[in-house]
Amino acid sequence: EPNNRLIVVSNRVPSPKGAGGNQGGLAVGVMNALQKADGLWLGWNGEIDGDNNAQLSHYDFDGVRFATFPITEHDHKTYYTGFSNEILWPLFHYRPDKVEYSRESLDGYLRVNQRFARHIKPLVEPDTRVWVHDYHLIPLGYYLRQTSVDAPLGYFLHIPFPPWDVVRILPEYEDLLRYLTSYDLIGLQTEIDLKNLRDCMVMALDARDLGDNVLEVEGRRFKIAAYPISIDVNDAQDLAKKGEQSATGQRLKRSIGDRPLVIGVDRLDYSKGVYKRFQAFERLLENAEHQRGNVVFIQISPPSRTDVHEYAQLRSTLERVAGHVNGRFADYDWTPLRYLNRGYGREAVFGFLRQSRVALLTPLRDGMNLVAKEYVAAQDPEDPGVLIISHLAGASWELKDGALVCNPYDIDGVSDMLEQALAMPLEERKLRWRRMMDVLETNDIHNWSQNFLAELMEMKLANSASQ
Ligand code: G6P
Repeated sequence: EPNNRLIVVSNRVPSPKGAGGNQGGLAVGVMNALQKADGLWLGWNGEIDGDNNAQLSHYDFDGVRFATFPITEHDHKTYYTGFSNEILWPLFHYRPDKVEYSRESLDGYLRVNQRFARHIKPLVEPDTRVWVHDYHLIPLGYYLRQTSVDAPLGYFLHIPFPPWDVVRILPEYEDLLRYLTSYDLIGLQTEIDLKNLRDCMVMALDARDLGDNVLEVEGRRFKIAAYPISIDVNDAQDLAKKGEQSATGQRLKRSIGDRPLVIGVDRLDYSKGVYKRFQAFERLLENAEHQRGNVVFIQISPPSRTDVHEYAQLRSTLERVAGHVNGRFADYDWTPLRYLNRGYGREAVFGFLRQSRVALLTPLRDGMNLVAKEYVAAQDPEDPGVLIISHLAGASWELKDGALVCNPYDIDGVSDMLEQALAMPLEERKLRWRRMMDVLETNDIHNWSQNFLAELMEMKLANSASQ
């Protein structure tokens, strides 16, 4: 029996066509949450099609019901590549220098958001909740309200929310903030993001703070709160064990032997700090002579958003630096840096994470970084590895008592930390790992979605009562 009580909406949905390893935290987190919720997930099918009026295709995949549609080439260029990834992505990651603003992109962004609203409207039944995800769809709540959808509307931002002075670089910042006020509940990853959004609401829209994270703008009340996204811990542990035993896992083991393995896994994106990460690894090889011929660093970087100029440029930069490091230090029986410009299935990646002594995750800015949490859950409790995480990733707030927390701009500092991690005795590794696991076991993906949805209903009820 169809059940539209929860409609989840995001730009990207997991692809049933052999999901590669480049889907990012949103697809992973939301998939886990939806498998339990018995809802419907609506989004772009990842394809380009000239027909602006293409209908929804409905299908089931991995225990979840999907409704997807293609977008036109022009919409892809303006809404996805342009406004979402050349404007909002860099701005929200505190990189205004990388913003490529254009009105045409803005128009496409609004047009596609209206199209999403048209697709959703007929699916909404009297007891439906709608949960919208990420920066591609900020105006969607506003357009849904315009078509008189009165359902509880929730919004979750998976990426950072920057400070007021960065936000107002965007010509339409006031409109975007006003669109957000159409939702009943707005979720962010961390307290910092929350503080920034609250400041913006007050500075730009003169929001009144009603206490308990509830704000009021032009008579509309909405709640803003932090819900750090997490992972399915049991699922991660199973995948990691299977992955280690799999043919791929065994091949990795044979090729590494007894050498300590350092791993990084990130979409190929400038926000992930991989360029500086390579430099820190090079510094380690300069300073720690005993690591030459020994440590191996595997960086897995599946290509992402290849139509955006900055991403193409980063790709060639990383190829150059990886070649440089290997050219400088490799020996006939040892390649220090294995830079893999492709994705692997989840089981294989979890197997790699389990076999790695250190995870080196150094984003310059990151909403959460679920790979950090996945690495922790993937470890063998009897011989766990060490997590090095940037203090500019959302995940560092929850994991700081067990991880080594680094400043990704400090190349010497990261290199020292890498040495410390590689030398860390078993007892200390176990202690640190346990502290991180306690956090993950308390806040897993199920708590995340349950907390958000419960507070969404509470807020909607309060709003309906006050009308
Ligand atoms: C990040 C974003 C997601 C996005 C993912 C992959 O995790 O928060 O919204 O889906 O990156 O990027 P892509 O552009 O391929 O969807």
